[in-house]
Amino acid sequence: MARRSVLVCGILLLLEICNGNQDYNNYTLIKINPYNDEQVLVANAINATGIEILKNSRGLNDTVDLLVPPSRVNYTRSYAEENKLGFEVKQENYGRSFQELGPPESDELNRTVRTARRRYQKSFHLFEYNSYPSILEFQETVARRRPDLVQVEDVGRSYEGRRIKLVKISANPEAQNPIIFIDAGIHAREWVAPAMALYLIHRLSSDPDVRQNVLDGVDWYILPVVNPDGYEFTRSSAAHRLWRKTRSQTVNSCYGVDGNRNYGFKWAVSGVSTNPCDGETYAGPKPFSEPETQIVRNIMMKNADRMKLYVSLHSYGNFLVYPWGYTGDFLPKQWRKLDSLARSVSNAVQKAGGKPLTVLSAGKWYPAAGGSDDFAFGAVGVPYSYTMELTDGYEFTFPARLLKNVLPQFYEGFKVFGKSIKQEFGSS
Ligand SMILES: *[C@@H]1O[C@H](CO)[C@@H](O)[C@H](O)[C@H]1NC(C)=O
Ligand SMILES: *[C@@H]1O[C@H](CO)[C@@H](O)[C@H](O)[C@H]1NC(C)=O
Ligand SMILES: *[C@@H]1O[C@H](CO)[C@@H](O)[C@H](O)[C@H]1NC(C)=O
Ligand SMILES: *[C@@H]1O[C@H](CO)[C@@H](O)[C@H](O)[C@H]1NC(C)=O
Ligand SMILES: [Zn+2]
Repeated sequence: MARRSVLVCGILLLLEICNGNQDYNNYTLIKINPYNDEQVLVANAINATGIEILKNSRGLNDTVDLLVPPSRVNYTRSYAEENKLGFEVKQENYGRSFQELGPPESDELNRTVRTARRRYQKSFHLFEYNSYPSILEFQETVARRRPDLVQVEDVGRSYEGRRIKLVKISANPEAQNPIIFIDAGIHAREWVAPAMALYLIHRLSSDPDVRQNVLDGVDWYILPVVNPDGYEFTRSSAAHRLWRKTRSQTVNSCYGVDGNRNYGFKWAVSGVSTNPCDGETYAGPKPFSEPETQIVRNIMMKNADRMKLYVSLHSYGNFLVYPWGYTGDFLPKQWRKLDSLARSVSNAVQKAGGKPLTVLSAGKWYPAAGGSDDFAFGAVGVPYSYTMELTDGYEFTFPARLLKNVLPQFYEGFKVFGKSIKQEFGSS
């Protein structure tokens, strides 16, 4: 989840890039590494026309990842040297790396189909990256199979008119149970996030042992793709693979708003761009300018009394962060509870063989306002609110072939979320 980009558009020649037609073939993926507190700020402050920040640093030894055009590689090296930052060229000709990912071999495909416990429909595989139409079909299929447990609610349409559907998993919808709300895919290129949300729907609706542990007494609302326009855009060609924003058309023929800067709590006070042509963190013309963020807001407001946990799924970096995101100057007074639950979740992921998640407050190293987690916590009053950055080591192009390893590991963390919410808020 890049916090800021220095891609400056507006010159006609760059419009192609602003609108997402950028193959990054000539770009170098460079990681600069801070070794002390002061260097974290310095590393996050790198900016020069053309350099795109894929990920900011959230602390010591957490790299700032940059896509650097040929003309800026020397600048980046000097910047690292002058500030005594680590400097690593991870990949030259970055765009080629994901053009070559391509579709899996047919063996591989067959194997993943068998690994998934059930085959839902021809075009859908739990351990693949699915098209949006086939995700919608999966949602309906699950609801048809488990009418006792799963309901699908139409919650609105995206800017380009795609239907957005919320999956509600509840063993007793009349019971007014506490609600856990999970969303994914506000950032288009973070494909592993929708994959995680869909895997959660699969496990919660089909595991025999799940009922007693995490379903009786807690309702799960899951919105797997908040920004389907962006998601489909990133699937349309390798040149669009790294698109992040929505696809609404703003001024100057520039497209899209960063949905995770668009929420109406402390909107735009920090860490945003006010330039509609910024490829990354444009906060939008006003809070909730996007139909997609309005949809999430409406789900939260409608269920505010019962909603006790909100988790927004993103990638990458293996972080589990809590409010405040808009400032690093202070923490909410309940921060110890947020911190402690997050650490239990991380422990469960680690116990299942995964990498532990780094737990901290989102705004500690680079404040960014208008995020959904701050809105849920600060405006809606959801007592536990998080952003989860899934996976590390592959930037935004986490290979599909590894999904079968990591999704079950993260799932163990979600079981801890479920048990904990049930324990604290469930009626017996
Ligand atoms: C990328 O490199 C190729 C080959 O060196 C060159 O023809 C092309 O103009 C470059 N593109 C950009 C955007 O720099
Ligand atoms: C880089 O940061 C400096 C200081 O914040 C700012 O004045 C300048 O406009 C920035 N440059 C770009 C290209 O964003
Ligand atoms: C950061 O890396 C340095 C050098 O590899 C190491 O000595 C140090 O312990 C690391 N610090 C943290 C907080 O991981
Ligand atoms: C980068 O620096 C090297 C060595 O100093 C030099 O040979 C090269 O021409 C520079 N490249 C650019 C694009 O300025
Ligand atoms: Zn993100």
